[in-house]
Amino acid sequence: MKILLLGKKGQLGWEAQRELFCLGEVFAFDFPEIDFLKPNTIIDLVDEIQPDLIYNAVAYTAVDKAESEPEIARKINAETPGAIAVVCKNKDIPLIHISTDYIFDGLLGKDYVESNQPNPLNIYGSSKLEGENNIIQSGCDYLIFRTSWVYSMREGGFLQKVIQWAKNYEVLRIVDDQIGNPTWARTLAILSSRFLPSSPMLLKEFFHQHKGIYHLAGKGSVSRFEWTKFILENLPKDLHIKTRSVLPAKTKDFPTPAQRPFHSALNCSKFENEFSMRIPEWKQSLVLSMIN
Ligand SMILES: NC(=O)c1ccc[n+]([C@@H]2O[C@H](COP(=O)([O-])OP(=O)(O)OC[C@H]3O[C@@H](n4cnc5c(N)ncnc54)[C@H](OP(=O)(O)O)[C@@H]3O)[C@@H](O)[C@H]2O)c1
Repeated sequence: MKILLLGKKGQLGWEAQRELFCLGEVFAFDFPEIDFLKPNTIIDLVDEIQPDLIYNAVAYTAVDKAESEPEIARKINAETPGAIAVVCKNKDIPLIHISTDYIFDGLLGKDYVESNQPNPLNIYGSSKLEGENNIIQSGCDYLIFRTSWVYSMREGGFLQKVIQWAKNYEVLRIVDDQIGNPTWARTLAILSSRFLPSSPMLLKEFFHQHKGIYHLAGKGSVSRFEWTKFILENLPKDLHIKTRSVLPAKTKDFPTPAQRPFHSALNCSKFENEFSMRIPEWKQSLVLSMIN
């Protein structure tokens, strides 16, 4: 089986490459070999490789910067995924795509299920929602996994920011009114692919049966404040941390270009039931991520 992985250097793509090679031969690319601002660079690649599965881990993830670059965010998160989905439909290739909790406004007051109404508050969220809709409208067989607060020990994400702050400041002030599910990129890579059949014929059938949107994130929800405290308690001792205390703050104390949802945590029961998989508690994943 041939798998085309788009975005091999990102937090998720890096881990996905290490997981997908148990399923088949992986052809993995990232910018600048492929450029989501130029969809033909991907469509040509699909013609050349003729993959049995496409896994898209590329995204424009700079939430604040997207507010000043809406067209670039739309192209990368919506238009090009839509163009890839059309190719998938025409060539009967199953597609895995990743979306986000930021398609919700966070005002529901409890964890979101798949049938809840999206209402993104920022450009990043609306571009990702448009990407979902373009994929659905293409008529291809897709699995869209909406995830939340992705981190890795390698680079990028909130975890790396906390580590940098902790090395430099004695006191950290972290918002306690944003609630989500911390999701280790490795757990996400495993959970989004381990249940797939490795035969192209069975894979097509599988996607046909299970096609849809699924919430897939670390189990349990937490505020950024509580998450930060847990990160600091579990950091490797050789990191020379300066931080002595973490204080709760409010989102309004730190104005940012993009508005963020307050409670965008995801309920992932549909995923667990459909694929008979167990999602680990976010704390368990975080502890394991630190000893790798
Ligand atoms: N990070 C989060 O907290 C979070 C939360 C919810 C959902 N998600 C979703 O989860 C998925 C994976 O996120 P992630 O955190 O792994 O993202 P990431 O680390 O930012 O990786 C994204 C990858 O896309 C590549 N890319 C960006 N622009 C490109 C372009 N024009 N052409 C080709 N490649 C390009 C990046 O390359 P460069 O590094 O060279 O730009 C990078 O390798 C995304 O769909 C994201 O929307 C993430």
